[in-house]
Amino acid sequence: MILVTGGTGLVGSHLLLDLAKSGQNVRAIYRTESKLFEVKKVFSYYIPDKEATFLFDSIEWVQADILDIPSLNEAFQNIKYVYHCAAIVSFDATNAKKT
Ligand SMILES: NC(=O)c1ccc[n+]([C@@H]2O[C@H](COP(=O)([O-])OP(=O)(O)OC[C@H]3O[C@@H](n4cnc5c(N)ncnc54)[C@H](OP(=O)(O)O)[C@@H]3O)[C@@H](O)[C@H]2O)c1
Repeated sequence: MILVTGGTGLVGSHLLLDLAKSGQNVRAIYRTESKLFEVKKVFSYYIPDKEATFLFDSIEWVQADILDIPSLNEAFQNIKYVYHCAAIVSFDATNAKKT
């Protein structure tokens, strides 16, 4: 199984669409429920709603924060490959020291 971190972000959501389309067994982590809606919107931008919902539902979503190691235990069960797309991407200088 493949794990995608940052699946609710720009790179991660497009990667998830590609992986799901190719029938991969995929798990992805998210932090907040509301961001999942954004992923569905990305899918629906490229493919019909029905297919977008089907592919979105094929992804196993696990709530986890990469800064919270115990929360990653469940996410990493039976994972062979990881696409690590989680990051803080910002042009705000006050974010420069954030991990
Ligand atoms: N965008 C580009 O054109 C581009 C090009 C080349 C390389 N990259 C690289 O690709 C990576 C992702 O970029 P992006 O544009 O997709 O950024 P993004 O849209 O801001 O997405 C960042 C993702 O990381 C997640 N995240 C941040 N902190 C987290 C944490 N502590 N625990 C779990 N998830 C966390 C965010 O989750 P939330 O939704 O919960 O905030 C979101 O899903 C970065 O390393 C960037 O440098 C991007």
